[in-house]
Amino acid sequence: MVASTTDTRPDLPDFTAIRGHIARLPRVNLIVRPTPLTEAPNLARALNHGKPGGPRIFIKRDDLTSLGLGGNKLRNLEFRLARTMAENADTVIVGLDLQSNSARQTVAACNRLGLKTILVLEGSKPNVIQGNLLMDYLLGAEVHFAATRDEQRQMLDGLADQTRKARGRPHILNDNPMFDVASAAAYLEATLEVLEQLDAEGLSPTYFYMSSSGKGQAGIILAQRLTGLDFRMHGVTATSEFHLPSRTAGIANETARALGLDLVITEDEIVNFTDFVGEGYGVPSEAGVEAVKLFARTEGVILDPIYTGKAAAGLVAHVREGRFGADDVIVFVHTGGTPANFTWADLWVDNTMTTKTSSTR
Ligand SMILES: Cc1ncc(COP(=O)(O)O)c(C=O)c1O
Repeated sequence: MVASTTDTRPDLPDFTAIRGHIARLPRVNLIVRPTPLTEAPNLARALNHGKPGGPRIFIKRDDLTSLGLGGNKLRNLEFRLARTMAENADTVIVGLDLQSNSARQTVAACNRLGLKTILVLEGSKPNVIQGNLLMDYLLGAEVHFAATRDEQRQMLDGLADQTRKARGRPHILNDNPMFDVASAAAYLEATLEVLEQLDAEGLSPTYFYMSSSGKGQAGIILAQRLTGLDFRMHGVTATSEFHLPSRTAGIANETARALGLDLVITEDEIVNFTDFVGEGYGVPSEAGVEAVKLFARTEGVILDPIYTGKAAAGLVAHVREGRFGADDVIVFVHTGGTPANFTWADLWVDNTMTTKTSSTR
């Protein structure tokens, strides 16, 4: 875009070279890009006590990544499943959690590529099937349940053997070493999309907020370094399982090597907020639930109580604390996860009342 005389933003650098590095990775096409970037003025105003003058907030709609109800994993599956296709596999076998967003998106992506999917999910089959698991069945996956991680691993190998015996060509996705690099490369690219989308509005970001277990965040950090633009990446974690700064820096460096980039990211460059996890991974928090309601009721945007709601709780708390000014442009990356709302229906409505009312009719 042509800069106006009052526009003091630095020129957007040319991204051709960065895109050239990403193009080194084999890839299949799964999603329509760019995903939308929409401003959230009602949310911004609500967080600024009903007054204008607070930071501008934009939402990167990666919950709208084209297939199987969307989410961040479809971006990395473009790279991971390219490897599967190159190996000429016809069946993807993957072990994940019972209510995994990744599982749902993997089945959708495999369907698109004409691959069969076998899921081995950790947990037991629930009495009522809801959320991501329901979508796994709707998408036609063959679903198995494993009580422990060890059992899950044995089942993956056993199912691969059975597939081979039936003259199939299995690919165990857990053994595909691309997950971290593919996710970081995907979010390096997604950040370029955001920079171009904001530039078209005459804006540059000052902060990114995203639910992070380190992989996508590593990509945003790489984008920051490679473009030299002055924005900060704030990851908000949904789990206490990892030491995020070292993990994120490690993934960023592994990705830089895979892309042929000569740079080193250090752990002190990584900002992660761990204080929005609440009781633990997979357990909704009060602040997260409030943030989900706020996004829904001000902007009509549905988050989820496990990942994006907790990340939004971080953003909400920081805006309320007055950390940002009117010049700030914050990008909240919506990484998906919305099917979890159906497994947590009681957070949004008193279902016992609904049942009682309908049963008395
Ligand atoms: C909805 C959602 N947001 C964020 C994440 C974390 O993404 P990453 O592992 O790239 O940090 C996940 C991962 O499972 C997710 O399902």
